Amino acid sequence: MKFFVDTAEIDEIKALLETGLLNGVTTNPSLIAKSGRNILEVLKEICALVPGPVSGEVTTTVAADMIAEGKKLAEIADNLVVKLPLTFDGIKACYALSQEGIKTNVTLCFSSAQALLAAKAGATYISPFVGRLDDIAQDGMGLIADICQVYSMYPDIHTEVLVASIRNPIHLMEAAKMGADVATIPPKVIHQLFKHPLTDAGLEAFMKDVASTKQSIL
Ligand code: E4P
Repeated sequence: MKFFVDTAEIDEIKALLETGLLNGVTTNPSLIAKSGRNILEVLKEICALVPGPVSGEVTTTVAADMIAEGKKLAEIADNLVVKLPLTFDGIKACYALSQEGIKTNVTLCFSSAQALLAAKAGATYISPFVGRLDDIAQDGMGLIADICQVYSMYPDIHTEVLVASIRNPIHLMEAAKMGADVATIPPKVIHQLFKHPLTDAGLEAFMKDVASTKQSIL
């Protein structure tokens, strides 16, 4: 399973790159606004830092403008993936950009029917949002199961399932058990994945015991 980080913060990306766990980055207009940076500048910086795919989202809702923005975004770097909303116009733009060999990530997906549309339009990634469905008492993980099942029925579908709006390690591990291709994870949740109370207790005991021997390796 590929791990993307869902952030536009350069320092967070740099720290995670050093773990070797990071396969890509996703951003959205809210994350860019939070960073306080210029859209094109921050995407350029992230694309140069990260060897994998970096999603940058369009800022308009009209297909022709999304296509123009998508082409401009794609000029930033070879690893830039154009993020488009799952609307009639977004799917139109996805089809047009895909025909030109530009990679796309169709976002704001909340149903398996929508996921099928994105696949048929040639999307590189579909981003179903699990946390936002859970927030309104709908089954976020059920949606991932449905999309994985539908896509697996058709060998000509190459769209990757990119699980988004992940809020906790359980979301991630449920998605991994379903065989989802990618998860985009907030930095805070990536750090939560390392934690286990038995790891902390065991390490504390090992450090105490090694100190009692007055030895060190270096
Ligand atoms: C995905 O591409 C989105 O940027 C993100 O996962 C949305 O997460 P949120 O629902 O926590 O804002």
